[in-house]
Amino acid sequence: MRDLVRETHLQPSNFILPLFVVEGEGIRKEIKSMPGNAQLSIDELVKEAQEAKSLGVGGVILFGIPKHKDEDATGAYDDEGIVQQAVAALKSEVPGLLVVTDVCNCEYTSHGHCGKIIDDDVDNDITLNWLAQGAVSHARAGADIVAPSDMMDGRVGAIRAALDDAGFSHIPIMSYAAKYASSFYGPFRDAAESAPQFGDRRSYQMDPANAREAVKEMALDLEEGADMLMVKPAMPYLDIIKAAHENFDVPIAAYQVSGEFSMIQAAASNGWIDLERAMMESLTCIKRAGASIILTYFAKDASRLL
Ligand code: PBG
Repeated sequence: MRDLVRETHLQPSNFILPLFVVEGEGIRKEIKSMPGNAQLSIDELVKEAQEAKSLGVGGVILFGIPKHKDEDATGAYDDEGIVQQAVAALKSEVPGLLVVTDVCNCEYTSHGHCGKIIDDDVDNDITLNWLAQGAVSHARAGADIVAPSDMMDGRVGAIRAALDDAGFSHIPIMSYAAKYASSFYGPFRDAAESAPQFGDRRSYQMDPANAREAVKEMALDLEEGADMLMVKPAMPYLDIIKAAHENFDVPIAAYQVSGEFSMIQAAASNGWIDLERAMMESLTCIKRAGASIILTYFAKDASRLL
């Protein structure tokens, strides 16, 4: 009877699995703070993506970790860059898999910030150009969706215009519209080797204390041409997911970030909570709040269980 009256149902197709890709071959370097996740070279990435696809996972989102980082994040928008190569490999080796790319610069800059540094601060408008070029290079490689996560003002519009100009008007933008300056990104920054070398990201990411501002950020991104809106992190921001769902008639995504994942793993490995139940409960509640797409490091495990 509970099944009959249940209001929220999870499906593997709701999930997007984040994957970290590095240069080289035969590399599967475990990320200590994120059990079960690894930095993968392209050959290993293909295997991981095949497994995800066979479990029915909705898609993958790629984060590139280049060997060479510089002031101007050149690897982020290089047609031969690590993510661009990875997208092309997935498109040819895992046909039918939905491939999303994270469009950002912090993994590619020597200073770890998401944009061009001028006088110790990120310059919004110069950064827009990098992002637009990055998104176009991802589309050229075969990406199905681009997901800008940098939080520069005006980036969705800049990316949309650049995609349209380059003949990619059919490629949708999933905007990290309400992305907070959160402590829960800690393990990711180990995984992606992208911790800022000085300062923090509070001048471009949102203040966790603000909710109405999130609605404004989302409205602006939609005006600029976003097709889907993302809220990030997920669990501490269920009210924001709900506001997104109530205010806007587009698909809503939520990112259950690294810290959320690792907290559950850590508590479970201490025997303090039950891993499977906590995993499914957290995902169900994120969906109940209004997200139809969930980016989660649990994508494979949850799909297996479903
Ligand atoms: C890149 C980016 C980050 C995450 C996704 N894209 C890190 C950050 O903003 O510092 C975090 C994802 C996670 O914690 O799982 N800007």
